[in-house]
Parts: sequence; structure tokens; C-alpha cells
Amino acid sequence: MILSLLISFISVSLLTWAFAVGGGIAWKNGRNKKGKTPIPGPHGLPIFGSLFVLSRGLAHRSLASMAQTRAATQLMAFSLGSTPAVVASDPHTAREILTSPHFANRPIKQSAKSLMFSRAIGFAPNGTYWRLLRKISSSHLFSPRRILAHEPGRQLDFAVMLRNIASEQKLSGSVSLRKHLQLAALNNIMGSVFGKRYDPAQDSGELEELREMVKEGFDLLGAFNWSDYIPWLSYFYDPFRVVERCEALVPRVRKLVRVIIEEHKLSGSRKVSDNADFVDVLLSLEGEEKLNEDDMVAVLWEMIFRGTDTTALLTEWVMAELVLHQEIQTKLREELKSAVAGNTLTDAVVAKLPYLQAVIKETLRVHPPGPLLSWARLATSDVQLSNGMVIPANTTAMVNMWAITHDSHVWEEPHVFKPERFTEGADVDVRGGDLRLAPFGAGRRVCPGKNLGLVTVGLWVAKLVHHFEWGPDGDHTVDLSEVLKLSCEMKHPLSAVASPRNVVF
Ligand code: HEM
Repeated sequence: MILSLLISFISVSLLTWAFAVGGGIAWKNGRNKKGKTPIPGPHGLPIFGSLFVLSRGLAHRSLASMAQTRAATQLMAFSLGSTPAVVASDPHTAREILTSPHFANRPIKQSAKSLMFSRAIGFAPNGTYWRLLRKISSSHLFSPRRILAHEPGRQLDFAVMLRNIASEQKLSGSVSLRKHLQLAALNNIMGSVFGKRYDPAQDSGELEELREMVKEGFDLLGAFNWSDYIPWLSYFYDPFRVVERCEALVPRVRKLVRVIIEEHKLSGSRKVSDNADFVDVLLSLEGEEKLNEDDMVAVLWEMIFRGTDTTALLTEWVMAELVLHQEIQTKLREELKSAVAGNTLTDAVVAKLPYLQAVIKETLRVHPPGPLLSWARLATSDVQLSNGMVIPANTTAMVNMWAITHDSHVWEEPHVFKPERFTEGADVDVRGGDLRLAPFGAGRRVCPGKNLGLVTVGLWVAKLVHHFEWGPDGDHTVDLSEVLKLSCEMKHPLSAVASPRNVVF
């Protein structure tokens, strides 16, 4: 009985696959031909479609070369198991997708659902609740006044990082930068969100527990989960034990965040100043803006996930390029020298440094932290594109930002690291206004933390270059190989020689 069921299942799958056209199995019945121009795409494998492209290696690079060879850069249809998906590798189509109101939802992964993220900003479906969260984030959490008011925290986290870097350099003759950046980023985001910072010397137990929980969450959200695309597979195959691990993590997260919320409640007045942390801000909301406690836990915890690694990893990429390109580092230092002139480096000073801003933009172009913009979108109805293609409802849509930023039709010499392209050529808005370089996405679901991320990376890079000269470490040459997890990070963490300058202890 079981054998004959299996044989029939395999036969049906093979037949469906054999008759499937562009896009593969999830695009059967002419799904890719709803518009006057069909959406081209690979046939893929029976049952799996093109799942293997996404499940291993560097998906952004594989998808880019697939789209290139099939002349499908505008839009390519493919199958992720039974899920129909499209990917745009062209700025024009990318804009149409990201800014369309019909793509304001995201497909939600099992891990995100289990980790309560369906109530957080990133995964909440488009609707009243999500709009409320976006309103809270723009008018309270990430308002320019609040970002400015948190500058002392960024300065403090850098001061700790500076001391730790100097002592590692003295002790070991080189510095492995990532752990310093990650600690600074974690403390920075914990400071903004929970009003709490950790000192590894005094709070090592609590800090370790937090780091472990954040890492577990990252692993679970970043893990490729086969049953997101082939749901029945979870009965046989769950190599990451996603469900079990999520179930173990959620109560720990709830406990930690609830204790912090309680502490804030006990601390009295709900009148919030500009430098209040996110917990105080959320507790102070009244009327229709008020969130219940579970929703607060989801929103707050998501901030920790989104805000920590992105800033640390982007700063590491910037510094790696500066070690490789000493002439760019020197030019940047010259700019800093004339800007500082005896004063301390502040957000306000940093914002006015065109070359520094160009270095950061160029790093975002060459190494976008989310090369596939990390989180896909979901079509809520059939969407007609201006090129004659129609993306049917319930299609998962991705934008391959890496492919766009490495396309020689869009960028001259795209593989060369050249910040001058932003100072000598036309300026480019990286905050979602120009789809040739939109590392924070665009449209209604554009990253709400983009200004905070940019301000933090700008300040830290400026200070790292002002206080140290970064040279190559002879034992560990800079290797720009990538590994794609939740973000795209350096496969081999940067190690460099940091010679102190302008360091006063
Ligand atoms: C270098 C730093 C960062 C990068 C490159 C980045 C990138 C992104 C990208 C590509 C998206 C998806 C946008 C879209 O679908 O159009 C996103 C969404 C999001 N980001 Fe960021 N991000 C960064 C920093 C941050 C920070 C610091 C926070 C908060 C503390 C944050 C919070 C979020 C949230 C909540 C969303 C979901 C928005 C929604 O779906 O409505 N991000 N980010």
C-alpha cells in the first residue's frame, strides 16, 4: 500500500515536472504567462524546483548568474519546492516590486512564526497593526531627535571598543576586529532598546546568556528550513530541529524581556525624554497606540536581531576594504584630520564628511549586508509590471540587490572598490530613493532602522580610522570571501594591525 502510494506520488511529480515550463513545478498551468510577456525561468528539479540554489552557498551569486544566462535579469521565475518565486536583478523591476502596495506583505518562515515575529514589524502582515508599528517606529523609536539623543551611548560604546582594541594590539600584535564590533553593536542596541549595557568583566554570566540567545535566534532565522517550501518534509527531515529549538528559545526570550519591562514599570514616571529607551517609549504610549505585553516583547526582541549584526558586519566590511586600500584609508584620515581640528568626532561632524560617506556607500554597494534584501515580499494580488509581465498573487518576490550593484550596465567597473564614484559623479540616495543602490530596501517596508544604522557605522568608522592606522596582518591576509547567513558576512573575520594614533587613555 505504502509502496504504491509512493510510486503514484513520484509518477505524478515527474509528470507535473515534465509538463512544467519556465519557472518549474510551481509555475504549472501557464502561471508565468498571465501577462503579454511571459516570465522566463529555469525548469529546476522535480519536487524541489530550484531549492538547492537557495539552500547552499551564495544564493545571490547563483541567482545572478542564472538570471544572466537566461536573459532574465528583469525578472526570473523559479520554484522553491511548491512555492512560486520571482527575483528581480534590475533596478526598474526592483522599484516596481518594492514600492507596490501589492507587495507590502512578507512570506513568513516557520522559525519567524515560532519566534513570535509575526507580531513584530518585519513580519506583521500589512494592515492596521503593522501600520501602527511603523507609525510608532517613525515618530517615536527612530525619530531624528531620538537618534541624536542616543549619541552619548554610541560614543560610550566606541570608547570601550577603543580601549579593548588598543589592549589586544599591545598583547597580540594584531586585532581581530569582529568581536569588538559585535560587543559594541550589542551594547549599543541593548542601550537604545532596553537602556542596559553590559561590562564583560562584571556581567559575564548575563552577557553570555544574552549572546547565546541572540546567536540561537540568528541561527534559527538564518537557517535554510526545507519545510518552509516543502511542508510535508518536516515529518521526515528537520536537520536543524527548528521547531524544537524555537520552542526552547521563546520562553527564555519572554522571561528576559518581561523582567526588563517590569524593571522599567517599577522605575516610576512614564514621562519620556528624548534619550529614553524603547521600553520606556512603548510603555508611555496611550490609547490606540498602546501595545499589549506580548506584542512589546516581539517588537523589542526583533530590534535586537535586526540592529546588532547588520551594523557590526557592515563596519567590518568597511575596515577590510580600508586595510586592502591603504590610499583610500589615508585620504579618509586626511579628511578626518581637517574636520576634527582638536574637537571630538560627533555625529554632526561625521554627517558632513563627503569622503567618509562615500566610503560607506561604496561598501554598501560592493558588500550589501542583505544581498537579497534579507526578507522577501509576497504578492497579495496579480501585479502587472510595465514590461508586460504579470506576477500572480501569492508569489514570493525577491530583489537581488547584489546583482544590481554588480551589474556593469548599472555601475562602471562594478567590481572595483572606488568611493570616488560617489564624490565625483552624481550623488546616490542609499535610503530607498534610488534602486541602483538600495541596501535598506524601498517602499513601505523599507528598513526603519536605516538612519540609526548609518549614523552608527559612520561614527565608528570615523573613530576607528582617526584613532588607529590599520595595516595588513602578515599572518592573516584580508580575504573578502563571503558567507551568507541572516546577513552576508566575511567568511574569515578581519584581522589587522592597529597602530594607535590620537589615543588618550
Ligand atoms: C547596516 C544596517 C542595516 C541594513 C543594511 C538593513 C537592511 C534591511 C533590509 C534590506 C530590510 C528589508 C527592506 C525591504 O523589504 O524593503 C530591513 C528591514 C527592517 N530592518 Fe533593517 N537594516 C539595517 C539596520 C537596522 C537596524 C539598526 C534596525 C533596528 C534597530 C533595523 C530594523 C529593521 C526592521 C524592523 C525591518 C522590517 C521593516 C518592515 O518589514 O516593515 N534594521 N532592513
